[in-house]
Amino acid sequence: MCGIVAYTGSREACHLILKGLKRLEYRGYDSSGIALLENGELNIYKKKGKVADLESQLSEKPFSATTGIGHTRWATHGEPNDVNAHPHFSNNRRLAIIHNGIIENYAAIKQNLTQKGHVFHSDTDTEVLIHFIEDIQQETGNALEAAVRLALKEVVGAYAIVVMSADHPGQLIAARKGSPLVIGIGENEYFFASDATPIIEYTKNVVYLDDYEVATVNQGKLSIRNLDSTETVPYIQLLEMELDTIEKGGYDHFMIKEIFEQPRSIADSMRGRLRAADMHLQLGGLNNYLEKLACAERIILVGCGTSWHAGLVAEYLFEELARINVEVEYASEFRYRNPVIRENDMVIAISQSGETADTLAAIELAKSKGATIFGVCNVVGSSIARATHAGAYTHAGPEIGVASTKAFTAQVTVLTLIAIAVARRKNTISEETYRQLLGALEAIPGKVEKVFEHASRIKEIAYIFTYARNFIYLGRGFNFPVALEGALKLKEISYIHAEGYPAAEMKHGPIALIDEDMPVVFLATRDSSYEKIVSNIQEVKARRGRVIAIVTEGDTLIPEMVDFVIEVPEVHEILTPLVSVIPLQLLSYYIAVMRGRNVDQPRNLAKSVTVE
Ligand code: F6R
Repeated sequence: MCGIVAYTGSREACHLILKGLKRLEYRGYDSSGIALLENGELNIYKKKGKVADLESQLSEKPFSATTGIGHTRWATHGEPNDVNAHPHFSNNRRLAIIHNGIIENYAAIKQNLTQKGHVFHSDTDTEVLIHFIEDIQQETGNALEAAVRLALKEVVGAYAIVVMSADHPGQLIAARKGSPLVIGIGENEYFFASDATPIIEYTKNVVYLDDYEVATVNQGKLSIRNLDSTETVPYIQLLEMELDTIEKGGYDHFMIKEIFEQPRSIADSMRGRLRAADMHLQLGGLNNYLEKLACAERIILVGCGTSWHAGLVAEYLFEELARINVEVEYASEFRYRNPVIRENDMVIAISQSGETADTLAAIELAKSKGATIFGVCNVVGSSIARATHAGAYTHAGPEIGVASTKAFTAQVTVLTLIAIAVARRKNTISEETYRQLLGALEAIPGKVEKVFEHASRIKEIAYIFTYARNFIYLGRGFNFPVALEGALKLKEISYIHAEGYPAAEMKHGPIALIDEDMPVVFLATRDSSYEKIVSNIQEVKARRGRVIAIVTEGDTLIPEMVDFVIEVPEVHEILTPLVSVIPLQLLSYYIAVMRGRNVDQPRNLAKSVTVE
């Protein structure tokens, strides 16, 4: 949440930062701003709304500054408006700051500074922080970097910040705790950003700052110290990301690009790990933990939102294949309980961004109770990837659309690989089943491709239901988490109220909602609960509900009973979610587009939820 970009070097900073902010806009998009050092003064330009609004405000101005900081905001303290947008000035306007995170003790600091004569213009915690830094600098006479460190020692909360000073051209000071910050190292130039997407175009050499580290660029040199001023040697990594993965590539939205990318992203998440022909299945990160997982009495899966849904799929997988007891926990609840974690339990944390605050906190809690944590993350070098003992990246590539699509199928793919590997180690599946599963998994990208053949039919159905006010999604077994995911996709991008249930639960309450105005999406693929779901469809039809059924290719029974069908290819039952979720992603995408919604940046949401 909130994206930050900063630059110092010899390029024109303003447009470089604006471009970077657009790349980070998925992190928050209620306002944006830029601070530039121009003729010895700091000038701040900011605006409520999208980065494009700021850009058009600045389009006429000639800019030559070569150092600047920029921010795109997802409001926490103070409503989204021009004043609360970042950057913020210090009291004497000689310092400016951008911040991603929350300063929890800002009220007490603000009160103290107000008594000393500081005047605040915004309602933000961030403005308080830069006034606090200025106050410490003035009181101690320390250099700015030392003042930043001293201030951060007093601060409670999470932050990724970049500070610039009118008195030190070319100097940028950045720090992080709990919120991500990447530093790009070019030829005599430095880039700071919440993730690597604004940087990739200029350099592949990056340093991921650690918690409690302060990075200073001064006179073209980068140094990193911890809050106690001990210097550390920057660990420079090579980015593996390619530029085309973060561009729309001719599609109208990132979301539809990412939906159509799934045959490739699923294949990428298996690449080098699975080769059915010679029965090869190996995940590097799992090597030292396979035995521990195989011996686990219980696996606890934690995540939020779509990642939690992937965890639900994994519950079915681990129980079915590896006969391990599984609990799936909302990270936000788990972190505030006093969960019982035993020595032989294993925790798997699932996160696309690797930055979700609740999931990180759940990991820390489980760690404090002695648990071993395995991460399934998409973003390389992210906080969760680093907080876990081991893990497997999903390799879906950058997911920019706020609604998660390819990250979900990649998570499910990786969790399936893990479940199969554990099952084989435990001998809970035969060699023949193992061979069949590997082959079936390898065939999944081709099967997903086949679902796309029905895209235009799905679009027609979307047109019919564009103005529905409610939707119900029902599924059983492996399709139950898919029903939840389908409902989440629809509500977050189209703002239509939607609920997902296990199909048989309908009788226990939700059936009262069914009438001729209620669209009901049934996940009704041919699997072990097929007969049961057919009965559930009949129950809905008897109450005149309008049924859209996702069925297996060649099904002749269900099309006779329902209003609309969408076919998906036949797959092994445990792999069903990987194909049955695809039409639901497309349905919600088309409905949202037809309703004129901002599909990639739905209201109130942000891609990585770094606040609780
Ligand atoms: C839904 C969605 C969210 C995320 C959730 C967890 O489309 O994107 O529900 O799944 O915020 O985020 P990660 O996976 O980054 O931890």
